[in-house]
Amino acid sequence: MASLKRKLNEENCSLPYFEVHPRSKYNFSAAVLRRPMFIGDFSLNAKRQFCHDSRNLHYISIKWQIFKKVNYDLNVALDKANRKLFEETKNEKLDRLLEWILLNSFKFHTRESTGKPLKCLSTDFICFRGLLTQLLCTPYENEGWIVCATKFRNTIYLCAYDTPEKQTDRENETEMQKRMSAWGYKFEHYMTDGCDPSEGVEENEEYCCVVRSRLDNHSLVYGAEVDGADPSLYKTPHADLNAFIELKTSKELIRDADHRTLHKFKLLKWWSQSKLVGIPRVVCGFRDKEGIVHTLKMFDVEEMPAMAQDHWKPNIMLNFVKTFLDYVKSCVQVDNPKAVYKFQRKHNGDVVSCTYLGHDHDWTFLPEWYFEKVFKG
Ligand code: A3P
Ligand code: MG
Repeated sequence: MASLKRKLNEENCSLPYFEVHPRSKYNFSAAVLRRPMFIGDFSLNAKRQFCHDSRNLHYISIKWQIFKKVNYDLNVALDKANRKLFEETKNEKLDRLLEWILLNSFKFHTRESTGKPLKCLSTDFICFRGLLTQLLCTPYENEGWIVCATKFRNTIYLCAYDTPEKQTDRENETEMQKRMSAWGYKFEHYMTDGCDPSEGVEENEEYCCVVRSRLDNHSLVYGAEVDGADPSLYKTPHADLNAFIELKTSKELIRDADHRTLHKFKLLKWWSQSKLVGIPRVVCGFRDKEGIVHTLKMFDVEEMPAMAQDHWKPNIMLNFVKTFLDYVKSCVQVDNPKAVYKFQRKHNGDVVSCTYLGHDHDWTFLPEWYFEKVFKG
């Protein structure tokens, strides 16, 4: 470790690696995540084409309080589903979010820049919410990850890449895993107002919100796919995602171990994903082994950490991400839309490393159609 400490990366990366563990080092008063503010939205159609509107926003009416008994067979019309094209979505990188930025660059003006040509986006980071969810969960998960970073006009763009292990897992997915993934989408379908369960689900369609937030000293703009809004709360224009609902499925809770899995692993993910965009409620459909949902249960996102009973702690997670973003800022010095830095956490890894890749065509992710245009009015 000492030799690793001495070895400095190219391009003045000031720290050669960043420590995930022991996670107790992040156990101090939590970095503040400012209320995420809604700044826009877009949809993706079945062909994953960008649509500058909210055509795929779903309404999810919740007319019950804590529990509801239902009988949703998630196998219905599964053979008619248009399965999500994970290979293609991976190749999209940040493109759909960048398209939104191109069309909404006026939203990035500050008081000082109003009336003048836009020179920068005045935000420290741009990324998708999924990447931030993964970072938040890192102190409690073994999974490896790769995050690439490019600085352009003082904003750092972050893009997640599959690790080779993740790629292999995806290629070797069992039929049961594929079925369970389809069940998740089918559950969303059942919950959507006006849906006809006998129809197949179009899994490639999406509705995404773009939010602005701040984690301590880091300003952030990120895109997030969201499941839908409760029409009794949803009004436009809206400042935040308070009316939105996140949908999840989980195995029925039968044994003590099932409760533990829910609290230790599932709530960790649900809290991270929802907290980042300010979605206050998660509705879980509890399903049996055959894929029949018998119970819906409402979870209040703010109550999840207490339910988790020290299996995971938000302060450790938020402080980890804040400190990681400090590390990214210290490493990413070159301001060039083609230059890439790679941050990597190996499976089970205690550290995150940073490598400067320069203009490596395999990793460059900011497209020319974006960086040539965004500041040209
Ligand atoms: P569950 O949430 O019930 O697991 P999300 O909850 O993030 O909106 O995702 C909706 C559903 O899409 C998930 O349902 C799951 O079935 C499926 N899904 C999401 N990400 C996936 C992935 N990386 N691989 C396989 N299925 C995924
Ligand atoms: Mg969901």
